[in-house]
Amino acid sequence: MPGTFSLPFAPRHVLVSGQEHVAISDAIRAARPDLDIRNRAPADVTGEDLDWAECYVGFRPPRRADAMGQVRWVHSTGAGVDAWLNDPPLDASVLLTRSAESFGPMIAEWTVARVFAIQQQLPSLAAAQQQREWAPRDIAQVAGTRALLLGTGDIGRAIATSLRALGCTVTGVSRSGTSDHAAFHAVHTTESLPSLVADADWIICSVPDTPSTRGLISRDVLSRCRGAALLNAGRGAVIEESALPEALERGWLRAAALDVFVREPLPTDSPLWNDPRVIVSPHISGLTTTAGAVAGFIECADALARGEMPKWVVDRQRGY
Ligand code: GLV
Repeated sequence: MPGTFSLPFAPRHVLVSGQEHVAISDAIRAARPDLDIRNRAPADVTGEDLDWAECYVGFRPPRRADAMGQVRWVHSTGAGVDAWLNDPPLDASVLLTRSAESFGPMIAEWTVARVFAIQQQLPSLAAAQQQREWAPRDIAQVAGTRALLLGTGDIGRAIATSLRALGCTVTGVSRSGTSDHAAFHAVHTTESLPSLVADADWIICSVPDTPSTRGLISRDVLSRCRGAALLNAGRGAVIEESALPEALERGWLRAAALDVFVREPLPTDSPLWNDPRVIVSPHISGLTTTAGAVAGFIECADALARGEMPKWVVDRQRGY
């Protein structure tokens, strides 16, 4: 469902905003000198810019998504497009495409780093070291543990491959409940999530924020966990974040590693900052690169120039 946008459409005026907007616009200019490019920091985008632009390239709307001037095509430099589909959604007549960049390998490294940090108790060893305290403890191996992955797309598959190589048993959970990827020992539908979490040592979430994923890891689901560590590199809204302190306190979760939050930056008064069982990172698990952002945009622009619908059109019904 690409919305109500229709071909043919080959934009000439392109407005690039967001982080790295200068480098991205320079690279687009070099690759497509026929396009007229403006670049702006998000806070500097004016109504006149949006009335001039036919295409907007950026991670988030510079203002309300329903006030995009004459823009007929938005290219998201990120993989997750929730900023364009929620409160308010981008007008259905605007084409929405997303980054073609593969974030799986980087998010898999983020995941493996946290799995080992938690299993090897690195935060508490570092705290003991600060106190010059010799603090022996038992360390269990990652090999032989059970991981439950929420999301079996490109990112979930990359995580599954890494964890399987470490000797984990990897179970996937997805909308369809199927995946033919060899790294998964089994895949179930999301309806099975509440019954699966009790057996998981790791619950790893890499799904986007869509109407069907929002709040999926609810307090009820958390209450069924038996000491899992919860990792989130998807979107904060997938987890009932306000229930996490209780989940940690009651031992439903033994630890959490969170890269994404309901509100970002994570508010300074959030109890998650101070909890020694929680590893916070500032939404860095899968970073857009300039080269990746440019390649994705050019691929879509070239398809439009040929009169074709780009491969990376967002399915607005699914939300990705
Ligand atoms: C990052 O979170 C992205 O969606 O690319």
